[in-house]
Amino acid sequence: MTGAAILSLLRLEKKEDIAALYRHAHDFRLKNVGPKVYLRGLIELSNTCVKNCLYCGIRRDNKSVQRFSMCVDEIRESALWAHRNGYASIVLQSGERADEEFVSLIETALAQISEKTGGKMAVTISLGEQSRRTYERWLKAGARRYLLRIETSNPQLYEKLHPSDHSFAERLDCLHTLKDLGYQLGTGVMIGLPFQTVENLADDIIFFRKIDADMIGMGPYIPHKDTPLAAGAADFDAERNLELSLKMIAVARLELADVNIAATTALQTLHPTGREMGLLAGANVVMPNLTDTKYRPLYKLYEGKPCLDENAEMCRNCLENRIKSLGEEIAYGDPGDPLHFRRRLRRQTYL
Ligand code: 5AD
Ligand code: SF4
Ligand code: FES
Repeated sequence: MTGAAILSLLRLEKKEDIAALYRHAHDFRLKNVGPKVYLRGLIELSNTCVKNCLYCGIRRDNKSVQRFSMCVDEIRESALWAHRNGYASIVLQSGERADEEFVSLIETALAQISEKTGGKMAVTISLGEQSRRTYERWLKAGARRYLLRIETSNPQLYEKLHPSDHSFAERLDCLHTLKDLGYQLGTGVMIGLPFQTVENLADDIIFFRKIDADMIGMGPYIPHKDTPLAAGAADFDAERNLELSLKMIAVARLELADVNIAATTALQTLHPTGREMGLLAGANVVMPNLTDTKYRPLYKLYEGKPCLDENAEMCRNCLENRIKSLGEEIAYGDPGDPLHFRRRLRRQTYL
């Protein structure tokens, strides 16, 4: 699609036009990545972060957050619970740290998960900006997918949302390094950010295409009261952000066809069935939370995050029922490698 075509879809106003867009994207998903919904068990392993993003509830300067870090045993046991419960894929996510203690903790956890599951668990990591060497070590230890959101593909907007020592260029470099090393590459943005225009969002979709991402994880921006950006979000419009997020999922599906797209948890904060809406607008992945309930309230990137009291078992059953209620099937035991990645590899081999 041209930029103008993407923009005109994102700008649809009439309810029936928007519904037709979602239906079309859902059909397109069924045709291009199949009818099944893939589950990724999410383990939020630490809320300690060296970064200070102006929108995020666990930013370094938020002194009201009690910090936690899981130990290797806790991470491994969570992963093995997922393995026993039919998950073929998990995501390890945390605040950003680059010190050797952290890097080697992750390395050990990855190696143990790989060993105990006979290499059968597809592990995605989402641990921020790191050196090439660190990305290499984690790949060697067993990770195969990396999720690093660009947050916004517009460098000026990126600058407005981050302190001056955070760098758009470095984030972009990291994405290229990850791809170069052979990771399945996931990226994404926040939708409905202060200062963000619909043109910016259209550019984000073009960015996903250009960087040739295999997975997209994006969701609505939701203010967090203890952050500098929340001051500028007095006119936060939940309904608009939800609709814009669903439109972004639909247009990303139509544009990128064979990538995996997540219906993220933040959608559910804005609407009780937000994640189901995401699946019906073209997403094909959901991420049930596996984090121990004692840590969940501490991993609050935004206000109103759901599932704070529900344990791994409850979230699994809950999401299963939600997916079944749509008449959709869950792909158990299938890691669901993005078709886009397989095709990308084939293209490279033939070049
Ligand atoms: N609202 C929505 N998403 C947020 N993230 C961080 N803060 C917020 C917020 N206030 C997202 C960022 C980050 C991911 C881990 O969480 O996109 O990459
Ligand atoms: Fe840290 Fe990520 Fe939050 Fe930024 S968005 S402060 S890197 S956890
Ligand atoms: Fe966690 Fe519904 S997904 S309780």
